[in-house]
Order: sequence, then C-alpha cells, then structure tokens
Amino acid sequence: MLQCARDKRRRRVTSTFAALNLADLVSGYLHIFQYWLDIRLVSERAGDQKKRIEKDKGRKEPPPGPDDEDFRRPARPAGRAIAVYSAKGGVGVTTLATNLAVGLHTEETPAVLVDSCLQFGDVSVFLNLQVKNSIADLSARAEELDNDVVDEVLMTHECGLRVLAAPQRPEMADDVHADQVRKVLQFLKRVFAYVIIDTSSTMDDTTLAVLDVADLLVAVATPDIPAIKDARLLFDLLNVLEFPAGHVLFVLNKMDRRTGITAEAVAENLKHAVDGEIPYAEQTVTASVNRGVPLLLGDKSRPPARNLLDLLGAIKHKLVAQAKEEEEVKEAERPRAFGR
Ligand SMILES: Nc1ncnc2c1ncn2[C@@H]1O[C@H](COP(=O)(O)OP(=O)(O)OP(=O)(O)O)[C@@H](O)[C@H]1O
Ligand SMILES: [Mg+2]
Repeated sequence: MLQCARDKRRRRVTSTFAALNLADLVSGYLHIFQYWLDIRLVSERAGDQKKRIEKDKGRKEPPPGPDDEDFRRPARPAGRAIAVYSAKGGVGVTTLATNLAVGLHTEETPAVLVDSCLQFGDVSVFLNLQVKNSIADLSARAEELDNDVVDEVLMTHECGLRVLAAPQRPEMADDVHADQVRKVLQFLKRVFAYVIIDTSSTMDDTTLAVLDVADLLVAVATPDIPAIKDARLLFDLLNVLEFPAGHVLFVLNKMDRRTGITAEAVAENLKHAVDGEIPYAEQTVTASVNRGVPLLLGDKSRPPARNLLDLLGAIKHKLVAQAKEEEEVKEAERPRAFGR
C-alpha cells in the first residue's frame, strides 16, 4: 500500500512539475525511492560502511565507475533523510536542523547535515566551521560519486557529525542543479544512517528535490499569523504533491505565552497536530548561534534544549513506526511458500 502510495506520489509530482513547466526535473524522478530500512540494522550496516570506506582508502585498483553494476547497487539499504522546512523564513529552521543533526549523530548511527540553502546557507556558521568544500563540489561530480570523493568534500564537526556546506558565495549556487542535489542526497542516504537537510524557505526546484528524497519532513512555524498562514499553504501543497501526511512532523518554534497563541489553537486552526513545541529563548539561542555551539551540545536539562530532546524522541519514534510499517508491507508482499 505504501509503495503504491509512493508510486502515486511520484506520478503526481511528475505531473505537477510538468504543469509547472519544470520538465527538466521529471527525468530524475524515475530514479528515486529506495527505502526499506530496518532501523535496528542501521548501526550494524553503518559500521560495515565505515569499514568499507577505510578499506577503500587503502586499495590500489580504481573504485567502480558509474557503468559498473556494483556502483549502481546501493552499498546498503538506505538511511533516512529528514528535511527541515518552513514556507516562512526566519522561524528557526537552521537552528532546528543543526540541533537535530547533532542529536541524531552517534558512532553507531552516523549522520550528515546538508545545507541546501544554496545562496545564503549558514549551517557552517551555526556550527563554527570554516568552509573549504561545499555541495557545489559534489554536485559537479554527481554522476561519479564515490566514497572517497564524498569523504573528501564533507566537513567534520568536533562531535563527529559530517557536514555538507552551502557554496561559499551566492553566485556559485547557479552551478548547482536540483537533479544533482537529488543524486547527492540519494548517495548520502546509502552511506549515512541519517541525512538531515536544512532548506531555504523558497519552494524552488532544489527544495522540491529535497522533499522528493525526504522520508520525513519537519515542518516549522512560529506562533504568529503570517507563519501560520504559510504553514497552511505548505500543508495544501504537500497534499497536491501527495507527500504522505504521516511523514510530516509539525513543530512550533519560539513559543511565547505572551503572544496568547497556543499550540492547541494552532492545531485547531490548521487541522493538523502540533508534534513539538520549542519555547522562545532569545538569549540562550542567540548565544548558541553566535558561539557556533548547538544547544544540544550544552546543558540539555533545561528548555529549549530539553524540548529539542523531546522533538528528537518524536522523530525517532516516527522513523521506527515508518520502518515497521514498511516491514509489514514487505512481509505482506512476500510470496507465501506454503500458501498460508
Ligand atoms: N526558540 C528560539 N527562541 C529565540 N530565538 C530563536 C529560537 N529559534 C531560533 N531563534 C532565532 O531566530 C533567528 C532565525 O533562526 P534561523 O536562522 O534558525 O531561522 P531560519 O528559519 O533558518 O531562517 P532563514 O529563513 O533565514 O534560513 C536566529 O536569530 C535565531 O537565533
Ligand atoms: Mg536557515
């Protein structure tokens, strides 16, 4: 059923793009959807992958090229891509994406944070990293990605999280195409247990490509009328794209009792559950951003870090439920040897 829904979504997305005169995106949509991951196996497989990267570094023969069957076959079942998005800018998408990435990364479940805000991405600033390479370097080689190239381009945060930065200059964004971004993300899903993607609020080809690869969308809004209006438009658009409603987590950031807007009121207004609330904490968040040290690397016992941990729990819960659902579908589709 899920596969069927995804196929339907793929067809719908394709026709939507055609209607929007984005025909150049359509071809890439035929190469997507390699899911079927058992979350419990992620750590084991990620370990295998790490060993493989080490081994690849030492080997003499050239790595398989794009024409080799070994290259095209996924190295392991895909990891999970989590896109963080808001139709309205400035609501805290990058704050959430960086913290979620830091929180999800472990040695057993390695994570990569991708900055898909091609013109003015600031993930590297939020993590106090000096950008040497960026997504432009990988997208230029989207047809010939291999572990060595990817390993070389990704930066490493001191907590171990890998980071794919946005281009150093806005004009370099012109060289990065949505199809290439899609291929890069698909490759990263084979290598990492989690691929967290920070997005720009513009619903352009790149963001659509991100949504296409995403297994989970963390939709962010703030408790104010313009942001809530934009969230409504986003949910409508997701409907049109047939993005599975169950794959969306809706989060309200900068919650402030003084505004008089409660999560319940927003949920009622949008007819959409609020899955997470992060309080407004100007001093704490500003200090964290300015120091380039995510909140989840500091004291996690107090808000808003504690609320981010709760959100992390909700995300993991959702992904486990997703994996279970997919496993059930797979099981139901498996031919029965004895007709039972
Ligand atoms: N919970 C919060 N409390 C107070 N301030 C916050 C909170 N979350 C984020 N901010 C602040 O809001 C501002 C915007 O945050 P951020 O850059 O993460 O938003 P964004 O949605 O990624 O913006 P853009 O659309 O520019 O990419 C930053 O100054 C950040 O410090
Ligand atoms: Mg941002």
